[in-house]
Amino acid sequence: MKVVVTDYIEDDLDWEAEELEKAGIEFEAFQLKFKTEAEVLEKISDADIIVVNMVPLTDSILSKLERCQLIIRHGIGYDNVDVEACTKYGIQFAYQPDYCKEDVAEHAIALIFACARKVVWSRRVLDASSAAGQWDFAGLFPMYRLDGKTLGIVGVGRIGSRVARKLGSFGLRIIGTDPYLSERRRAELNVEFVEREELFRKADFVTVHTPLNEETRHLINSETLGWMKPTAYLINTSRGPMVDDNALAQAVQSGAIAGAAIDVYAHEPPPVDHPFFGLENVILTPHIGWASEEAGWEIRRSILDDIMAAAEGRPARCIVNSEILG
Ligand SMILES: NC(=O)c1ccc[n+]([C@@H]2O[C@H](COP(=O)([O-])OP(=O)(O)OC[C@H]3O[C@@H](n4cnc5c(N)ncnc54)[C@H](O)[C@@H]3O)[C@@H](O)[C@H]2O)c1
Repeated sequence: MKVVVTDYIEDDLDWEAEELEKAGIEFEAFQLKFKTEAEVLEKISDADIIVVNMVPLTDSILSKLERCQLIIRHGIGYDNVDVEACTKYGIQFAYQPDYCKEDVAEHAIALIFACARKVVWSRRVLDASSAAGQWDFAGLFPMYRLDGKTLGIVGVGRIGSRVARKLGSFGLRIIGTDPYLSERRRAELNVEFVEREELFRKADFVTVHTPLNEETRHLINSETLGWMKPTAYLINTSRGPMVDDNALAQAVQSGAIAGAAIDVYAHEPPPVDHPFFGLENVILTPHIGWASEEAGWEIRRSILDDIMAAAEGRPARCIVNSEILG
């Protein structure tokens, strides 16, 4: 059996190589992200199992694989893999939906606190005060305490529900909107479910955790921003296109909302003339919500488990096209 990695974000894959060698499984890893189809195929066409991060696995490439039985995406999203084509060619396609959910939830919470306590903006005040030899808090006030405020969670799935659970003891009223959550799941969560408009109108912090699709694209737009309080903040750690950037820039600039904290962008990294760069009240992080040593090792172990399962004739843990299992 041969396992091939098309591209990877780890420093090296020595651990995987060692583990697979112990199991007698052949292993090769490449960095083929910007290579041509022919160059990709030259390396992967005889693989039994392919692990992919960002390399596009198109119908054309998949049709030329000689004996591939399983493709594993390193991560949650899989828009670079043609799943229908995988099914057409009888290839199981697995992904890692639990990857980094704790970390993105922690990142969203970090951004909520950074907005509430004005952490990023405080540094400027400190520098100016030190230079002047006296405190001058101009621009930092008003500062409101989190206790007693309302947090609005849009999309209460893996990450959104963790934000709710982790923030449960901070004295926040937690409201959520999620039209696709079962009654049973709603009852398990310590979240008060409301309609979308009510959430935007009541929340002091709106944090977005929906998947990107045609329904959620530009979910944050001039109308939804118009419902928000002038003291409220928007936090987006989901996907960039969820936000209409120009509408958000306009809302922050005009004082329609107090500010925003953004981890994800429609085009990444965002171009230097992106409207957010000029905005004082917008905290920006470089799509880093996923990152932690723990998440990095969890996904490596989980992918290795999927490979071992396949080697033993068992299905991978999370198969997207499970219909091919019959
Ligand atoms: N910043 C990062 O590094 C990072 C890392 C991983 C994931 N993400 C993103 O985080 C987001 C959430 O991921 P997840 O694992 O929690 O997803 P999930 O599928 O577990 O949860 C999404 C929830 O959103 C709900 N939903 C769908 N459409 C909705 C709508 N129109 N309005 C309200 N709710 C809606 C779904 O019912 C579901 O409960 C995704 O966009 C994902 O791409 C970001």
